[in-house]
Amino acid sequence: TAGFCFGVDRAIKLIEKLLSEGKKVATLGPIIHNPQVIEDFKNRGVDIVEHPSEVKNGAVLVLRTHGVTEDVLEEVKNSGVEFIDAACPFVNKIHKIVRDNSNENVVTIILGDPSHPEVHGIKSCAKGESYVVKDSSELEDLLQKNNLFSQKELILVEQTTFSVKEWEKSLKKVKLLCTNAKIFDTICSATNERQEEAMRLAKTCDAMIIVGGRQSSNTAKLKAVCENCCPTYLIETARELSDIDLSGCKKVGVTAGASTPAAIIKEVLSTMSESTNA
Ligand code: F3S
Repeated sequence: TAGFCFGVDRAIKLIEKLLSEGKKVATLGPIIHNPQVIEDFKNRGVDIVEHPSEVKNGAVLVLRTHGVTEDVLEEVKNSGVEFIDAACPFVNKIHKIVRDNSNENVVTIILGDPSHPEVHGIKSCAKGESYVVKDSSELEDLLQKNNLFSQKELILVEQTTFSVKEWEKSLKKVKLLCTNAKIFDTICSATNERQEEAMRLAKTCDAMIIVGGRQSSNTAKLKAVCENCCPTYLIETARELSDIDLSGCKKVGVTAGASTPAAIIKEVLSTMSESTNA
């Protein structure tokens, strides 16, 4: 399953289609977390803007796969700029869950990376108190410091790329400490499948190479699950292979993040087989 997931593939095809129709395109922030894809789009005239007011006349603004905050969406709608929301449907589904199930008396807890744009977007949909915790021990701290949660209604969701293992640990803690929690498992199946597959592969290898952007959350998670099993290296392109010493390894596994294009994966594989044959 390595390489583009459904949501990234959809967003990339959307931009390709606009470009093939001769349209000018701008994206609000980088469309995905892969520097090579972003560079390629830049070379083909796609602007990255931070604000709708920066969009040049006539260009279509594309909103990123991770989704945006409610405020930003409102701002884009009011700007009069033509736009397409390329947020992954799985991310939109979490926004809807939080919008539909939260109110001023409900506490929303998001398991995820507090600095990630996807998490900012999810948090913005909460209508009452909301918290982001990065793992099960932070969750336990939060629940214990706020005894109140046992009397309050609570909803729990995760960032789409959250670790399956941490989610399982978190669930046990919530079930133990809260009586009023509504739990929504919102990890994306693409993430889940990739993590399990990568772990299975890593268990049978002497080293693992993970191909993907350093800013990409799901790529980082793949590295984290594999490094429990064998030495694991994250590279963005085939060029970085020369910095890694794989001489003592008989079997090396390769996998890639959900925003890594097939062409980069192929290049890594062919560079590796060239050096194996040399
Ligand atoms: Fe969407 Fe899952 Fe990819 S949330 S962007 S399909 S990793």
